[in-house]
Amino acid sequence: MGTNTVQPDMLQQLEQLRQEAEAALAQANSTEATRTWHSEYLGRKGRLTAILRNLGSLPAEERQLVGKVANEVKIDLELALQERQETIAQAELEAARSAESVDVTLPGRPMWDTFYTTSPDLLLRTHTSPGQIHAMRAYAPDPLRVILPGKVYRYEQVTARSESMFYQVEGIAVGRKITFSDLKGVLTNFANQMFGEGRQMRFRKSYFPFTEPSVEVDMDCVICGGKGCPICKYTGWLEILGAGMVHPIVLQNGGYDPAEFSGFAFGMGPERITMLKRSIDDIRYFYANDVRFLERV
Ligand code: DAH
Repeated sequence: MGTNTVQPDMLQQLEQLRQEAEAALAQANSTEATRTWHSEYLGRKGRLTAILRNLGSLPAEERQLVGKVANEVKIDLELALQERQETIAQAELEAARSAESVDVTLPGRPMWDTFYTTSPDLLLRTHTSPGQIHAMRAYAPDPLRVILPGKVYRYEQVTARSESMFYQVEGIAVGRKITFSDLKGVLTNFANQMFGEGRQMRFRKSYFPFTEPSVEVDMDCVICGGKGCPICKYTGWLEILGAGMVHPIVLQNGGYDPAEFSGFAFGMGPERITMLKRSIDDIRYFYANDVRFLERV
């Protein structure tokens, strides 16, 4: 083979390789596919390397030109790969996001797990919030401030922090110009009176079906003062209740015009509060009927 034929031959091979590689890259639709592409075209055992291996057989002047073109092809393909990988990563991320996203059109869960009784249609309530509607209908359209304590039941695993039967204290205030600041003020006041002045409160956004916005309320851990300990699971915070601004539809169903009235509500577990106040590490003591415990509390 004369030198004049070798050089265009190799340049041609390089150009063909570039075209084939670009076409194949456009077909690669996953990160995995781009990896395979890389090893086929640019890898150590890839096609570009195979062409470059023959470079040594060329005369010096030709070697320089072919080497330069080969290098350009390599850089171009590496850049194209990078671009393709970014596009694919973005698409994969979006696909993952849409697969995970919540379908808000699905119906909600019809009811919290609870206990049915042997009497038809009689079931044990899971929380005291349904008491709100009774209070509102009794007082509307007058402003109201009520506390609704009661026993509640939940079908759930019994642990040191959760019983299947416990108490709740529900509170609701409805009136004109009641704001979230009132809710914060009342709850902070409660914590300071119950646990001593200077308590830190934290309001975390949450969801409850009957309030909007809803919050879960934490207090700095009374055991360690916020430094972190086993009781607060080293977070420095203890959750003490759920709360929120009464949802306009709840107000309406209670007999109040939501354009004129607003309100807040909260629900707390007195056992949990007592546990914190008296350093009781297991909720099950409350219902175990051990007289020594009952006398102590
Ligand atoms: N009912 C909720 C529960 O059992 C607690 C709760 C949250 C009560 C927000 C409320 C409220 O009145 O506004 O977990």
